[in-house]
Amino acid sequence: MSKRYAAAVCAAIGLLAGGLRAPAVAADAAAQAQACDACHGGDGLPISATIPIIWGQQSSYLYKELHDFHSGDRKSPIMAPLVHDISLDDLRTLANYFAAKAWPTSNTAPAGRVAGPSSGDATPPPAEIADKIEMCKACHQPNFTGGDPGPRLAGLSAEYLASQMHAFADGTRTNNLDMPGFMRALTVSDREAIAKYLSGL
Ligand code: HEC
Ligand code: HEC
Repeated sequence: MSKRYAAAVCAAIGLLAGGLRAPAVAADAAAQAQACDACHGGDGLPISATIPIIWGQQSSYLYKELHDFHSGDRKSPIMAPLVHDISLDDLRTLANYFAAKAWPTSNTAPAGRVAGPSSGDATPPPAEIADKIEMCKACHQPNFTGGDPGPRLAGLSAEYLASQMHAFADGTRTNNLDMPGFMRALTVSDREAIAKYLSGL
């Protein structure tokens, strides 16, 4: 066997072994993710407006939330028991799995289902909230599509966004130090208007 041929065979075996390992890991995540699809949607579109889109969300954010549901730092009677028995390593794999998927848009939404219309365009905000949302952009990015340190907000449902903004303000969601103060500085109707605007991006 020539040296070159031997090298090619070794490379092929290496590729094959790598190729066999990779789908096995992906298959595990996909199997675990099926439990999530029941609510977050097998096509990325949640079954109800009270459930957030997780497809295409920031992976560091998804992992932090799964970690916080697991530890009890973020309370949820639905999510906490679901992730309680999943290891942190598996939660990170799930976070990466969902973050790697494409954010669903209204183009992919069947009639009657809620989805973000686009990927955060330049629609001007209503005058009464225009100044108030400027400061959010420092963390949630100018187009609200997220990045360190803030999660994506553009295209989440108005119901879900408002519920979380109120929860930070009234002290029921406590897993971030800054958000409660920012939300208390807004009136309830400001929060509702901001949620509606963000859901349309
Ligand atoms: C029975 C329905 C249901 C199932 C099944 C479910 N979720 Fe959730 N999930 C929810 C609801 C409802 C919320 C919002 C909780 C709240 O209001 O704080 C949520 C929130 C989340 C969040 C926070 C997102 C954000 O924007 O803050 C993540 C991440 C998440 N779920 C991941 C998962 C994963 C991963 C699985 C599968 C292991 C899963 N969920 C299974 C209903 C569900
Ligand atoms: C200093 C940075 C910062 C600023 C400014 C900020 N946020 Fe946040 N926001 C965050 C971080 C970080 C999180 C994730 C908190 C966590 O760990 O759960 C968050 C979470 C949220 C969530 C929950 C998203 C979800 O999927 O559950 C909403 C809604 C939100 N912010 C709205 C706003 C709005 C509206 C403003 C402006 C009025 C704003 N934020 C300003 C950093 C910021």
